Amino acid sequence: MRRRMRSHWTAAAAVVMAGVLSLSACGGGGGQAAQPTQGGGDAKKQVEVFSWWTGPGEADGLQAMRKIFEERNPSYTFFDAAVAGGSGDKAKALLQSKLQADTPPDTFQGHAGAELQGYIKAGDLEELNFLYDELKLKDAFPAQLVDQISVQGKIYSVPVNIHRSNVLWFNPAVLKEAGVAGAPKTLEEFVAALEKVKAKGKVPLSIGSEWTVTHLMESVLLGSLGTDAYNALFKPGADWNSPQVTKALEQFKTIMSYAGDPQDDWQPAAKQVADGEAAFNVMGDWAYGYFHNPPEGGLGKKSKTDFDWAPAPGTEGTYLWLSDSFTLPKGAKNRDGAVAWLKVAASKEGQDAFNPKKGSIPARKDAEHSLYTDYLADALKDWSSNKLAGSIQHGVAVNQPWLASINEAVGLFIGTKDVAGLQKALADAAQANAQ
Ligand code: GAL
Repeated sequence: MRRRMRSHWTAAAAVVMAGVLSLSACGGGGGQAAQPTQGGGDAKKQVEVFSWWTGPGEADGLQAMRKIFEERNPSYTFFDAAVAGGSGDKAKALLQSKLQADTPPDTFQGHAGAELQGYIKAGDLEELNFLYDELKLKDAFPAQLVDQISVQGKIYSVPVNIHRSNVLWFNPAVLKEAGVAGAPKTLEEFVAALEKVKAKGKVPLSIGSEWTVTHLMESVLLGSLGTDAYNALFKPGADWNSPQVTKALEQFKTIMSYAGDPQDDWQPAAKQVADGEAAFNVMGDWAYGYFHNPPEGGLGKKSKTDFDWAPAPGTEGTYLWLSDSFTLPKGAKNRDGAVAWLKVAASKEGQDAFNPKKGSIPARKDAEHSLYTDYLADALKDWSSNKLAGSIQHGVAVNQPWLASINEAVGLFIGTKDVAGLQKALADAAQANAQ
C-alpha cells in the first residue's frame, strides 16, 4: 500500500499505539471455569469461538469459515459461542466478565486498533509472532494493519477482513418516486433528498438501536470535517469544542430529524430500505451480505434494483475502515484448538470463504479478487486508492471506555436533541480518554 495512506492510518491510531504496556500474566494455561460443553462435548476437543455474528447476514461468513475449520480439523469440535446483538455491545460486555474471571473463550473477535490495544494492555492476550513467522503472515497483511494489532513488535491477533463503515445504502425506486436524481454527494444534498422523501410519506432515513446512531454520527463527522480534521479528533489535545465540530453536530441533528422509528438492530433498519419502506440507511458493508446473500442467511435482494450504495455523503475518497480480528486469550482451555482456528482465519482459503458472505474484503493482500464482485469489487477498488479514517463505533479510533462515553452522550442526545450538550460530552470524553 502506498505511503500516503500510512500517514492517515497512523494518524487515526497514534493515540493507541503510544502506551508502554506491562503485560501481567493472568492465565497462562488452564482456566477452569465452566465452559460450554453442550451435548456433553469434551472441552479439550471443543474450540469455543466467540463473536457476535448470529444474526441474518452476520452468521453466513462465520459458517463458511467454520466449514473449512471442520474439514481441516476433524479432531476438534467448533463451538459457536456467538452472542447476539449488532456491533457486539452485548457480546463485549459478556466477554469482559469472562476475561475478568480468567475464563476466556478459546478465541474471540476483537477490532483492530484501539479496542484490541485495550485487551493487550489488560494482559488478556498471548502474542502471535510464532504464528506470523510460521505462516509468513507479515507479508500477507498490509503493514499498517499489522501496526494496529501490535505493541512493541509483538503481534496480538489475526485480522480476517476489512469492513467499510461509511456506506450510504438506498432504495433506487424510493429515490425515483421522490424525485431524487441519485445518491447525494454532500451533506447539504443529503438533507435536500431526505426532505423530498419525507414529502412522499416514506421513511427518509432508517435507524436501528442506539449504536447505529453513533455509527451514523461518525460518517456525518467525516463528511462534514473532512478526513484530516476527522483523524485529528483522536489525537491528544484535539479540539472537540471547535466551531467546525459544532457545525458537524448541527448537521447530524438535522439529519437525525428525518430518522424513522428506531428498529431493534441494524438488520431491521436495513430491511426497511430493501423493502421500499425507507429511502436511506447509513451502515457498514456487512449490510451488503444481508441484502445480497440468499434467503435464510440474507434477503436475497437484487443489487442496483432493490438496493444500491454510495459513499456516505461528503466522504467519497475516504475509507472509514475497521477490521475484525481473532485472538488467542491467555489461559484458553483449548489453546491448540484456538491456534488451529487462527490458522484457518489467517489463510487465503478461510478469508476467501468468509468475506464474500460477510460483505467485507479480505485482510490478506493475495486473496482471489475474482470472488469479490458487485459491491465488493467497488470496495476492493476504493480500499486500494482511498484515504483512510478509523471507525469510532467499531474499535479503531477510540478504546472501549471512550466509546462507552460517546455512546452515552449520543443516547442522551437522541432524547434531548441538545447539540451543545452533545458537543460538551464528546469533548469531555476525549479529554478523559485520549492518551
Ligand atoms: C461490527 C463488526 C462487523 C459486524 C457489525 C454489525 O462491529 O466489526 O463485523 O458484525 O459490527 O454487527
